[in-house]
Amino acid sequence: MKSNYKRIGVLTGGGDCPGLNAVIRAVVKTAMANNVEVIGIYNGYNGLVNNQMIKMEDYHVAGILDKGGTILGTTNRDNPFHFCITEKGEKVFVDKSHQALENLKAREIEALVVIGGDGTIKIANDFCSLGLSVVAVPKTIDNDIPLTERTFGFDTAVHVATEALDRLRTTAESHHRVMILEVMGRYAGWIALHCGIAGGADGILIPEIPYQLDAVVDTINKRISRGKLFSLLVVAEGAKPVGGDVTVARIVENSFEKIRLGGVGQKIAHQIEDLTGIESRCTVLGHVQRGGTPTSYDRVLATRYGVAAVNALLSGHHAHMVALQRNEIITTSIGVVAGKPNNISLDNKLLQAASLTGVCLGQ
Ligand code: F6P
Repeated sequence: MKSNYKRIGVLTGGGDCPGLNAVIRAVVKTAMANNVEVIGIYNGYNGLVNNQMIKMEDYHVAGILDKGGTILGTTNRDNPFHFCITEKGEKVFVDKSHQALENLKAREIEALVVIGGDGTIKIANDFCSLGLSVVAVPKTIDNDIPLTERTFGFDTAVHVATEALDRLRTTAESHHRVMILEVMGRYAGWIALHCGIAGGADGILIPEIPYQLDAVVDTINKRISRGKLFSLLVVAEGAKPVGGDVTVARIVENSFEKIRLGGVGQKIAHQIEDLTGIESRCTVLGHVQRGGTPTSYDRVLATRYGVAAVNALLSGHHAHMVALQRNEIITTSIGVVAGKPNNISLDNKLLQAASLTGVCLGQ
């Protein structure tokens, strides 16, 4: 595979995430140090199809290390292989992947660094099948990409959620209430588990362990019998009851996701209040977990990923993802990762730690 590239492209796809700009900065700086030009592609795969790109200069990446969001823009909607256009007033889906490749060829962009989560990585893998050289960088607050111990953005989301729990604790205690924090994470409970432990939650409900409400109510009642008149619960947005399904906030069209999760925390709050008589309130943290400045851990990880992605391309990797394993950055085949989930296994040590320290996991 070719590795003496003159020009590479970079795009950010899927939901935004703290640390995206730190990756872009590292990609541009590392490429420039190797006399490789970088073309920034706007708004994820949309800019690839619609030919919206810019040559990245030093000044584009100056002062962005700690900036939230992405200077290139992003979308979790556009898939070039199933691209939505309007024809005669009707929405239709067409394959625009060849258009995207032609746009790259016309600009002499020989390879791509694609920064994204599972939807973005799956599309990157489809482009690899068409012969495009791609190295992906695993991005998501959810930490649900396989074969990497950490996605960048996760640490920041956990930090934000932990701070929220610390704040909810004092108001829960003052008012003798049950406070529920609903956190993001899609179908994985990583954010809930980590912030729940860090914030001293009494219960943590995650998608991987369908919950029994009775177990949660029992925990609350036992606390009351010990004179603890308040409880703090973390509920992952993808949590579901035994025998039941996830709570859907909305069905969405033309998105990497077909449904928007949300509302399980409020539902549980009402049920707990009915069953215990204790006032129960829910706070949905939502996109606060994704916005704003990355933690120092995420800035460092994002920088390491950006540097490694360019180095991987320059050393001949062409269908790969950079990943963190045993605190080293490695490369793994993108085909092994694409389309696969990364859920908390039931023998996860942190899950055991939660259980052993008296946290109710809804069982
Ligand atoms: O994948 C990141 C994430 O924030 C999930 O935790 C959440 O379910 C989803 O994206 C929300 O996406 P949107 O920005 O489309 O609401």
